[in-house]
Amino acid sequence: MRLHVADHPLVAHKLSVLRNKDTSSPTFRKLVDELVTLLAYEATRDVRTEPVEVVTPVATTTGVKIAEPLPLVVPILRAGLGMLDGMTRLMPTAEVGFLGMQRDEETLEAITYANRLPEDLTGRQCFLVDPMLATGGTLVAAIDYLFARGARDVTAVCLLAAPEGLEVVEKAVGDRGDVTVVVAAVDERLDENAYIIPGLGDAGDRLYGVV
Ligand code: URA
Repeated sequence: MRLHVADHPLVAHKLSVLRNKDTSSPTFRKLVDELVTLLAYEATRDVRTEPVEVVTPVATTTGVKIAEPLPLVVPILRAGLGMLDGMTRLMPTAEVGFLGMQRDEETLEAITYANRLPEDLTGRQCFLVDPMLATGGTLVAAIDYLFARGARDVTAVCLLAAPEGLEVVEKAVGDRGDVTVVVAAVDERLDENAYIIPGLGDAGDRLYGVV
């Protein structure tokens, strides 16, 4: 597993506002969207392209376009939905799948309650989006889901990660595939309820309210 921390003053600024408990839900949503655009720029650095001929007003040259099979962006419901627009704004030709996962608050295990993904992901670059990499359980389950359909190239885009979760993902992935995690920051630790400390609270609730 490769870890990429997007070390940039704009990322740090936006993240600080997100962390503030007094930031309202509309502002939180807008900032997540802006932050994801910056993270998406880092996360798509290795997206596959193929050459295309481009006719400019004065000459013909060779440019590139995103290669097929097209990349697949997979938000993990519910909180990952808040990161989808930021990803597709930067990569509009990507296709979008969905994975509904939630953690059982007693066992902290990830449960899959919905999925809409292509059956065959062989050769696809997949971009999982989920704001909080806490215990790593959900992300590992999601990566396993994609691997089971043939994907071997997965980039997870998260706002925050806990060191404990990163270790879990690293161990679970091993050498089974090529996994990159792109985050705005790695925080200190998890608390006894598996919340990231200092973190930003419950990302889903802050995006969408307590429903
Ligand atoms: N999920 C969240 O939304 N926040 C955390 O701190 C941990 C998991």
